[in-house]
Amino acid sequence: MRICVVSFSPTGVTERLAQSVAETLAAELAGKACCGGAAPHIERIPYTLPGERVELRFAPEAVVIAAAPVYAGRLPNKLLPELQVKLAGSGTAALAVCTFGNRSCGEALRELVLLLEQNGFCPLGAAAFAVQHAFTGRVGTARPDAADQSESARLARQAAAKLEQGAAPLAVDHSPIGPYYTPLKADGTPAKFLKAKPVLDPARCDSCGRCAQCCPMGSIDPATHQTVGVCIKCQACIQACPRGARSLADPDFLSHVAMLEQNFAARRADNVVLL
Ligand SMILES: Cc1cc2nc3c(=O)[nH]c(=O)nc-3n(C[C@H](O)[C@H](O)[C@H](O)COP(=O)(O)O)c2cc1C
Repeated sequence: MRICVVSFSPTGVTERLAQSVAETLAAELAGKACCGGAAPHIERIPYTLPGERVELRFAPEAVVIAAAPVYAGRLPNKLLPELQVKLAGSGTAALAVCTFGNRSCGEALRELVLLLEQNGFCPLGAAAFAVQHAFTGRVGTARPDAADQSESARLARQAAAKLEQGAAPLAVDHSPIGPYYTPLKADGTPAKFLKAKPVLDPARCDSCGRCAQCCPMGSIDPATHQTVGVCIKCQACIQACPRGARSLADPDFLSHVAMLEQNFAARRADNVVLL
């Protein structure tokens, strides 16, 4: 049996969580009849960079863990159309995993489960985990932590039991997915930073090129290190820069971050959504 971890994860948190779900699942299934008495093989399939987002077709015997962060209460809008056309199962068992930055998972988890269902997968379980927000270390600080890890192990154990029993797929609400969340500023009015891009401090940049290599949109010019294309504010280039040469200085973006720090710093109790 192959356990395939397909993750879109610009700053790496989602991928690490999905990988730990896969490891628990593999340990639970090792030696069981549903995987032929052998130990399942975990296959990491990063789906973050433009060149990684290829067409994937999965056989019925595979188990797919599909993982993505929550952006504005939904699946990232630049990723969604690609997932819709490129990810296909053939009755393949699947788990949906989302991470969100301690504000709200919104509709993203249900959206991912419905997408898997529409694309020929058989979703057996789904969970959304509150984690440290990519915009600020003051929201969801240091998560996932030990409690989150035990929740992710619980998802994996439930999925293993369902696989062994040949259980029915998740029953999900099929009503239309709601709108994207409108980010707010500290004063409660809408924050408009859709077109904002990171600024580069040329005095700090030593042209290592990491920013251009990690941009999921391929939007950073490898020669100038300027963001020349669409920026989804994922924070990958900012976090990857070893010299702190990149930052998002847009006033509306900074005000949204301040709003998150004011209102969503406390650890959420309802951190995990299990469907
Ligand atoms: C553009 C953007 C939008 C986000 N929107 C939300 C949101 O609506 N709710 C929330 O709780 N967290 C939100 N987050 C936080 C991410 O879901 C969280 O940081 C996630 O773990 C990042 O995943 P990654 O490390 O795999 O890139 C957002 C982050 C980004 C970059």
